[in-house]
Amino acid sequence: MTGPGTTPEIAEGVLAAFEAARGFMPVDEGRALHAAAVEAARLGLPLLEIGSYCGRSTLLLAEAARRAGTVVVTVDHHRGSEEQQPGQEYHDPDLLDAADATRLDTLPFFRRTVADAGLEAHVVAVVGGSPRAAAALGGGGGGRFGLVFVDGGHTDAHATADYESWVPQLADGGLLVIHDVFPDPADGGQAPYRIWRRAVSSGAFGEVATHRTLRVLRRLAPGI
Ligand SMILES: C[S@@+](CC[C@H](N)C(=O)[O-])C[C@H]1O[C@@H](n2cnc3c(N)ncnc32)[C@H](O)[C@@H]1O
Repeated sequence: MTGPGTTPEIAEGVLAAFEAARGFMPVDEGRALHAAAVEAARLGLPLLEIGSYCGRSTLLLAEAARRAGTVVVTVDHHRGSEEQQPGQEYHDPDLLDAADATRLDTLPFFRRTVADAGLEAHVVAVVGGSPRAAAALGGGGGGRFGLVFVDGGHTDAHATADYESWVPQLADGGLLVIHDVFPDPADGGQAPYRIWRRAVSSGAFGEVATHRTLRVLRRLAPGI
């Protein structure tokens, strides 16, 4: 990992719950996400997660929110990303909707993950499409979040929409965290990398830390 700061301990039980939960984030990246969330939560503002799946990364944001007496707002339609659909590389048949086996429903798994970890009081779950949720929750600027974690759809259209919908709502001094940033196309899709580059080249952000595919930036000025 590059970047300043020590890694705070994750509360007893939450790390075990993180490791047990379905999801894609390895433990070392989870620790980096948690460290960013603990720092950002000191602003006293809610944290935001775009893309929750079954709640694995949510647990770390919620634990950081609990320490600071705030919440994490999670946004996911819980129908899965393109690569999680039947026949695709990251499909998990256990997650098919009990009432309609042609599509996913990760919401019951998400709720169970959060409840079993005792973190429900620190999670406000928004179930819906990301840009539509952003517009409904106020759109535009406002600086209402201390951290924006982008881990939703990984197409250019989705990643760009997430960036343009939510990053204006990040407070000055707040942290923008982007997952699955692959500078080399041979390693993975480029959409998260492209929004990371857009943030850096905007001049509105300073680089804080890099841990494998997880990038942490701090808002230094208005603009996206
Ligand atoms: C990579 S998974 C998130 C993994 C999770 N952060 C973790 O580490 O456990 C991406 C999630 O984004 C959601 N998603 C994709 N596109 C979306 C959109 N346009 N609006 C809302 N959610 C979306 C999918 O339903 C999926 O659950």
